[in-house]
Amino acid sequence: MTRPKIFLTRELPPESMAILRQQSDLTFNPDDRVLTKAEIIAGVQDVDGLLCLLTDLIDDEILAANSNLKVVANFAVGFNNIDVDAATDRKILVTNTPGVLTDTTADMAFALLLSAARRVVEGDQFVRAGNWHGWGPLQFLGNDVSGSTLGLIGFGRIAQAVARRARGFDMKIVYWNRTRLSPEQESSLGVVYAEMDEVLRQSDYVSVHVALNDETKHLIGARELSLMKPIATIVNTARGPIIDEAALVAALQDGTIASAGLDVYEREPELHPDLYQMPNAVIAPHLGSATIGTRTKMGNMAAENCLAACRGEVPPNLVNP
Ligand code: DGY
Repeated sequence: MTRPKIFLTRELPPESMAILRQQSDLTFNPDDRVLTKAEIIAGVQDVDGLLCLLTDLIDDEILAANSNLKVVANFAVGFNNIDVDAATDRKILVTNTPGVLTDTTADMAFALLLSAARRVVEGDQFVRAGNWHGWGPLQFLGNDVSGSTLGLIGFGRIAQAVARRARGFDMKIVYWNRTRLSPEQESSLGVVYAEMDEVLRQSDYVSVHVALNDETKHLIGARELSLMKPIATIVNTARGPIIDEAALVAALQDGTIASAGLDVYEREPELHPDLYQMPNAVIAPHLGSATIGTRTKMGNMAAENCLAACRGEVPPNLVNP
């Protein structure tokens, strides 16, 4: 059997590169930058598989550039960057990397929650600026996490992993999800269901965990933020456009809510300009899955998906069966 031809839009961890090199004729972008659409179109000519990242917008024009393309394998669990309907119409398989980044992303959500609640980044900047001249009883007072209420918007794998962490902090956990769990599942996970508005009203911390699609774009806007407590923190490790970023900035500025822990943004890598100046926003550069172990697992999984589809097999993590 001939070796499949694969085009990869950016270098992956070494183990994943070794798998791809051993089992395919690989071409890849060696530069540490996002390719232009024209470069991706040039790259997919004559290949069997495209292995891409969440920063590559794979639209119908790219999919149409090679009528023999078998698969678009995404190096991410989210696949809102790919026009899946167009791929399905063209009989191109689309795959993602679920499961392997669940705990790592839940860790990041908790890191942001704790950092925002306890003003860790503000304190760090204060010390580095040479402004700290000793302990003070009123310095950088934050909000308690232990014993508080956590609201989860969406209750898939990552939200459930966040809930497991929250139990260790004796938090009360309320969740909203499109489909409700069974009473047995709720009691074994130690969570209580409520409508989304009620979750927002009751929670001291709200963490967002829905997939981005037409229904969830701006799911959290000015109205939803206005329901939250003035001492509340919102955390987003899912996708930026789920929260209306301008409305969030306004809510943080006028005290509607206390703080935010953000890993994702509406127009990455651009942020709302005011966010750079705001001490009550912890801003991370989309690091949810960014550990050596997890990015290696994601790369290996994306490689195996791509190779399987190129061989004509059903890839393990197909999103458009
Ligand atoms: C994903 O896989 O969707 C994550 O956002 C990557 O960090």
